[in-house]
Amino acid sequence: MHVMLKSRIESRQAMAAVIGLGYAGLPLALEMCNSDFDVYGIDTSKDRISSLNKGKSYVSDIKDVQIAEVINRKLFAGNDFSVLKNADIIIICVPTPLDKVKEPDVSYIKSAVAQVAKYIRKGTLVVLESTTYPGTTEELVTSVIESKKGMQVGKDFFVCYSPERVDPGNKYFNVKNTPRIIGGSTQKCLELGIVLYDTFIKRLVPVSSTRVAEMVKLLENTFRSVNIALINEMTQMSDSMGINIWEAVDAASSKPFGFMPFYPGPGTGGHCIPLDPIYLSWKGKTCNYFNRFIELADDINSNMPGYVFKQIKRILSKKDYSDARIFIIGIAYKKDVDDLRESPALRLLGLFMESGAGVKYYDPYIPTLSIGGYELHSCEPDSKNLHESDIVVIATDHTCIDYQFIADNSKVVYDTRNAAKNCRTDNVILMGG
Ligand SMILES: NC(=O)c1ccc[n+]([C@@H]2O[C@H](COP(=O)([O-])OP(=O)(O)OC[C@H]3O[C@@H](n4cnc5c(N)ncnc54)[C@H](O)[C@@H]3O)[C@@H](O)[C@H]2O)c1
Repeated sequence: MHVMLKSRIESRQAMAAVIGLGYAGLPLALEMCNSDFDVYGIDTSKDRISSLNKGKSYVSDIKDVQIAEVINRKLFAGNDFSVLKNADIIIICVPTPLDKVKEPDVSYIKSAVAQVAKYIRKGTLVVLESTTYPGTTEELVTSVIESKKGMQVGKDFFVCYSPERVDPGNKYFNVKNTPRIIGGSTQKCLELGIVLYDTFIKRLVPVSSTRVAEMVKLLENTFRSVNIALINEMTQMSDSMGINIWEAVDAASSKPFGFMPFYPGPGTGGHCIPLDPIYLSWKGKTCNYFNRFIELADDINSNMPGYVFKQIKRILSKKDYSDARIFIIGIAYKKDVDDLRESPALRLLGLFMESGAGVKYYDPYIPTLSIGGYELHSCEPDSKNLHESDIVVIATDHTCIDYQFIADNSKVVYDTRNAAKNCRTDNVILMGG
C-alpha cells in the first residue's frame, strides 16, 4: 500500500486534496498544481470558492493569472467533501484561532478531520499543516480516523504533520524555497511525506515525530514573539531615557555573530505571532508547566497599542481625545499585506474611537473595515486630510506610501515603524527615537 502510493505520487497519478484555501492552503495548492498534481481545493467559504472559479485571487501574494491558469484544469475548487473519496493525499490547512478566553480553538481541525474520517479510503496520506500544539496530530487526526474507520496508521493509511511556514508579503521566500519540516506518525508515514513534499519543495527537514514537527513551528513563532517583546520593552525604556533604539539596533547588527535584529512596532498581528505561542503555553499548562516567557511577551506586545495611544496623548498635550483628529497610516498587521487579523493598528484605531477622537485611516490594501459596529473607508492621504489632522500616526509601513509627502503636509507625525527615516522634516516624532 505504501509502495503503491509512493509510485502514484512519483508518477503524479495521485489525486491531492487541500482542505482550507486561505493564506496557507491556496499557495500550497497552486504549488502542487505547478508540480503537475491534480488538486481538489475544498473550502467552506462559498465566496472564496466562487472567487477561485472566476479566476480571481483573494490572497495578495497570488495574482489572478495564477488562478486562471489552473482552475478547472489542475485545481478543482468546491465545498463538497465527498471528493475526498477519490483523494490519495489530503492536506489540512484550516484556521487555528484562539477562543474568547484565549485558549486554542481546534474546532476547525476537528470538523475537517470529521469529513476526512467519513470519506477516507485505504492507502491515503493525510497531512496536517495548520499550526497547533504538540500532540494534535496524534490526538485529533490519527486516533480519530483509526477509531472511526477501524484502520491502522502506518498500515492502512498514513499521517504526517508539516507546518506551513509561509511569510505573506515576502518577495523572496515562498512555498517552494522555504525549507519544510516534516514528521510522520510512523517511519512509513514519514517516508511517504518526504516523497510527496520532495516533488515541490526544495529542501526538507525531517524530524522524528509529528510532536517534534508541531513543536518546531511553535518554537519559531515563540522566538519571534519573545524577541519582538524584548525590543518593544527596550523601546519604551529608550523613550524614557532619550535614546534612539533604532540606531542602537542597527549598530548592534554590525556584530557578525550572536545578534539578530528585531524592530519596534505598535504590537504584533496576523494569524501567527500573537496566537501560536499561546497554543504552546496552553499545552504546557495541561502538563503543569507554566511558560513565563510566552505570557510576558504576550503581555508586552498586546499592550503596545495602549503605549502608542498614551504617547500620542502626551504629544498632543490633551486631557482627553474628544476634540482630537487622528489620521492613521497603514492598518494591515504588517507592511505590504492586506491582512487585518489581530492587527495592532486596528486595536489602536479602536482605542481612539472609544476615546471619542475623530479618526480616519489610509491603507491601500484595506479599502474598508468594520469596527465597533461602524464601517470605515480608507481616506486618501492628500494634503487636505493631512492638514486637517492634529497628528498623523504611521502604524504600518507599506512600501508604496510617499512618507515625504505625508511629513511635508502634516502638523505632526508619530512614526511607530521608522518609515519616515529619510524624510527631511523636523515634525516627525519616532517611537523609541
Ligand atoms: N497566514 C499565515 O501567514 C500562516 C503562515 C503559516 C501558517 N499558518 C497556519 O495555517 C493555518 C491556516 O491559516 P490561514 O492564514 O491560511 O487561514 P485563512 O483563514 O486565511 O484560511 C483558512 C481557510 O479555511 C477555510 N475553512 C475553515 N474551516 C474549514 C473546514 N472545516 N473545511 C474546509 N475549509 C475550512 C476558511 O474558509 C478559510 O478560507 C493556520 O493554522 C495558521 O496558523 C498561517
